Amino acid sequence: MKDRLIITGGNPLQGKVRISGAKNAGLVLMAASILAAGETILDNVPHIQDVDVMIELLNDLGVHTQWNDDKSLSICPTSGPIKKETSYELSKRLRASNLLLGSMLGQVSETRISMPGGCDIGSRPMDLHLKGLQAMGVEIDIEHGYIYARAKKAKGARVYLDFPSVGATENIMMMAAKTPGITIIENAAKEPEIVDLANFLNSMGAKIRGTGTDLIKIEGVEELNPVRYAIIPDRIEAGTYMVAASITAGELLVENIIPTHLYPIIAKLQETGTYVEETDQGILVRGSKTIKHVDIKTLPYPGYPTDMQSPMMALLALSDGSSMVVENVFENRFQIVDELNRMGANIKVEGHTAIINGVKNLCGACVKATDLRAGAALVIAALGAQGTTEIENAYHIFRGYEDIAVKLSQLGARVEIS
Ligand code: EPZ
Repeated sequence: MKDRLIITGGNPLQGKVRISGAKNAGLVLMAASILAAGETILDNVPHIQDVDVMIELLNDLGVHTQWNDDKSLSICPTSGPIKKETSYELSKRLRASNLLLGSMLGQVSETRISMPGGCDIGSRPMDLHLKGLQAMGVEIDIEHGYIYARAKKAKGARVYLDFPSVGATENIMMMAAKTPGITIIENAAKEPEIVDLANFLNSMGAKIRGTGTDLIKIEGVEELNPVRYAIIPDRIEAGTYMVAASITAGELLVENIIPTHLYPIIAKLQETGTYVEETDQGILVRGSKTIKHVDIKTLPYPGYPTDMQSPMMALLALSDGSSMVVENVFENRFQIVDELNRMGANIKVEGHTAIINGVKNLCGACVKATDLRAGAALVIAALGAQGTTEIENAYHIFRGYEDIAVKLSQLGARVEIS
């Protein structure tokens, strides 16, 4: 399989880019679709490798899926019961397979899911997911790398999340949607993808209130009905292209976005001296010759998104001074630093803090992607570097960025997959 991206820097990105549907909304809505018998149709689902793996997982459970001619994705639990366990082979390829735990418990009284392993950005525990499900009466056993969950007499409960975990909030919401009684999630995650999940489930007949705040109330219902629903655009893909426009001092119109989802990203980009304007057609980004150094602290939404931390580090590597980046969400999300330093960046890491001393130029080099957003950072650095960069393990990037080589080439970048 072609797994390298070869990028020659120096061309300013010019033109328009249309943002695809959000990976992190699409994956959870695909998992949630099994809560309704019949054909659910999702619009705006991105054709990316993580979606392909989620499709394989659903098929393995006995759920029929089909890409339609109009590019929508049909998901149809067959009339029979779904298989009660997820495959280890497939789960280890997609951490978000853990989102099937909540949706399966909304459908069947017991299930077994493979513990998705950790990944390069951290150990990725599920203690908060399990705390929420156990509060609703689910018995949990963990053996041989599997979570065995039995929900004989589940009922609504009040759950406090020690950390506003996106996945834990989503798993609890999906199970609670069809669990008798009232479930309250305190210190819930507030990401736009949580709101999208609630809008989707409510359109199926669920009774969920409060998403977008830290207190979510769910009243369980008997049945949910299949719907047709368009998922929200990908705010992280949008941010990635905006930073790419900035590092190349280009001019880009980012189309098909929801501006409010991007406010933290816009604010920080503007602090670097990048011109950003909300227009009726989308967000206009104009890079400037000088990139001002800025400090960043990642936080749960509406704080600065952790998924935009690595991409922003690539930009700050060329800033006019010293920037401090503090990663407060994941424990190991600075893997990209060594690779950026290979390109001539001057970044030092001390625990959860990275100090980026801006340099005049980055130089093309052979580098490797270690995770999805680190890969995006290498693409950005390569676009802003002198010479040619070869990015190995580019599959990490294809996991979450639909048609990235095509989209960048159309903007004037010199990119090829090999
Ligand atoms: C979701 O991951 C996203 N993935 C991530 O995007 C995103 O970075 C993250 O939310 C934070 O916004 C999907 O939606 C598929 P968390 P998730 O549970 O749900 C700790 C990308 O690049 N934690 O909010 O796994 C955890 O260790 C990906 O698109 C517990 O301690 O994130 C982490 O430090 C990467 N116990 C922090 O919370 C738990 O039970 C945030 O995790 C759960 C999480």
